[in-house]
Amino acid sequence: MQVLGICGSPHTGGNTAFALRHALSVLAGEGIETEFISLADKRINPCKGCFHCRQGTCIQQDDDMPVILDAMLACDGLILASPVYMGMVTGQMKVMMDRTVIFRAGGRFALTGKIGAGIACGGFRNGGQELTLQNMQTFFLQQNMFAIADGPGYSHSGAAIVGRAAEDSVGLETVENLARHMARSLRGR
Ligand SMILES: Cc1cc2nc3c(=O)[nH]c(=O)nc-3n(C[C@H](O)[C@H](O)[C@H](O)COP(=O)(O)O)c2cc1C
Repeated sequence: MQVLGICGSPHTGGNTAFALRHALSVLAGEGIETEFISLADKRINPCKGCFHCRQGTCIQQDDDMPVILDAMLACDGLILASPVYMGMVTGQMKVMMDRTVIFRAGGRFALTGKIGAGIACGGFRNGGQELTLQNMQTFFLQQNMFAIADGPGYSHSGAAIVGRAAEDSVGLETVENLARHMARSLRGR
């Protein structure tokens, strides 16, 4: 069993990376293999909308997206983590999401049945964490995946951080709950 975490922050050592690494460490403690990918050091071009992917391949092979697509295909669970930017996921995360359209192309839905969960880190309370999580959940549903939230004891929209992740004890509790919920969901499949 393997869980892939993708961090959509431009900072490799920021709040989002901290929260995602925290989730992955809880999963590792549950005996689940993990992989961490930061989009901060990746070059991902926007989708050109050419639908060449309907023929089975993307015309853009010269950036870092093929590595991410391979990692997504290999995982059983996917945690997307994004800072809140203008109330939504970052541009980096959205561009990455768009390029995964190849998984849907031609009706293949290659991510079918994988389990997805989201972590949103905002500077402020009510800064858009919920809509950011919904951006990710919509992505999971469009990929015919199962979307899960943070699960008990709070079970809201996913894990949400306010301000400095390392100092947000309640936020980190939602991150830990989400990781344990992911582990349970994977075992229950
Ligand atoms: C361009 C930009 C837009 C932002 N928009 C929001 C926002 O709408 N709501 C919010 O709560 N925080 C917002 N923030 C703050 C970040 O979400 C917050 O600092 C976050 O912890 C950064 O995560 P990182 O350290 O992983 O980069 C914004 C920051 C930037 C740079």
